[in-house]
Amino acid sequence: MNLLKGKVALVTGANRGIGRAIALGMAKEGADIAFTDLAIDDNTKSLEAELAALGIKGKGYASNAASYEETGKVVQEIVAEFGTVDILVNNAGITKDTLLMRMTEEQWDAEINVNLKTVFNFTKVVQMVMLKAKSGSIINISSVVGVAGNAGQANYSASKAGIIGFTKSIAKEVGSRNIRCNALAPGFIITEMTGKLPDDVREAWIKAIPLRRGGTPEDVANACIFLGSDLSSYISGQVINVCGAMQT
Ligand code: NAI
Repeated sequence: MNLLKGKVALVTGANRGIGRAIALGMAKEGADIAFTDLAIDDNTKSLEAELAALGIKGKGYASNAASYEETGKVVQEIVAEFGTVDILVNNAGITKDTLLMRMTEEQWDAEINVNLKTVFNFTKVVQMVMLKAKSGSIINISSVVGVAGNAGQANYSASKAGIIGFTKSIAKEVGSRNIRCNALAPGFIITEMTGKLPDDVREAWIKAIPLRRGGTPEDVANACIFLGSDLSSYISGQVINVCGAMQT
C-alpha cells in the first residue's frame, strides 16, 4: 500500500520506541521521514539505514523538542531539505512517576516542559508551513492516562490531558485552512518506558486489558498512518484510544 506517498512526515523523539515504529510504518506507506531526538546516536544511524532501505528519503536531526529556539532551527533545516511538512507527529515524551506527596517541583516542571511544551513548540512552528500549503495533519501522542488519570502519574497525566485540550483547540483554529489535528491515547504499550515497571505491575496491567496483551509500537503506528493519510480526511479534533479496550 502507498497511503502516504508524496507526503513528508516529521516525527519527534523517534530514535526508539513508539516514535521509531511510527517513522518506519509511515515510510512503508511511502512517506519521506524527517525525525528528531535529543542526540544523534547509533539508534539514529540504524533508523536512517532502515528508512533508506525502504527507498524513501529519511534523515534524523538532533534537537531538544522542549526548546522553542531549537525547534525553530530544526524545522527550518527540515523544510530546506524536504521542501515541506505534511504530517507532524508530536511523540517525544518522558515519565517521572511518583505520588504527589513525594513529587518535586523539578519532576512536575520536567513533565510539563517535555510532554506538553514540545507539542506547543512544534505545532506553532510547523503550522506556518501547513498554513502556506493549505493542508496538513497534526497527530499528538497523548495517553489513556491523560483521559482517565492514574495514581503516581499526576504530572504525566496533567501533561497528557493538556495535550488533549491543545489538540481540540488547534483543530478549531486551523480547520478552515484544511489542517487537521488529532490526538492518540495509547494504553499500555511495550517499550523502554513501560519496561522500567516491575514485573508484577506489568502483569497486573495486562490482566486488566480485555484484549489480554500490551500493545505494540506498531499498533500505535498503524493508527498514526490512518490519521496522517487522506483516509481520515474528515476526522479532526478527536482523541482515539489505542488501548485494547482497557478501562479509561
Ligand atoms: P521511549 O522512552 O521509549 O521513547 C521516547 C523518545 O523520545 C526517546 O527516543 C527519547 O530520547 C525522546 N525524547 C525524550 N525527550 C525528548 C526531547 N526533549 N526532545 C526530543 N526527543 C526526546 O518512550 P515511548 O514509550 O516510545 O513513548 C513515546 C510517546 O508515547 C511518549 O509521548 C509517551 O508518553 C507516549 N505513550 C507511551 C505509552 C507506553 O505505554 N509506552 C503509553 C501512552 C503514551
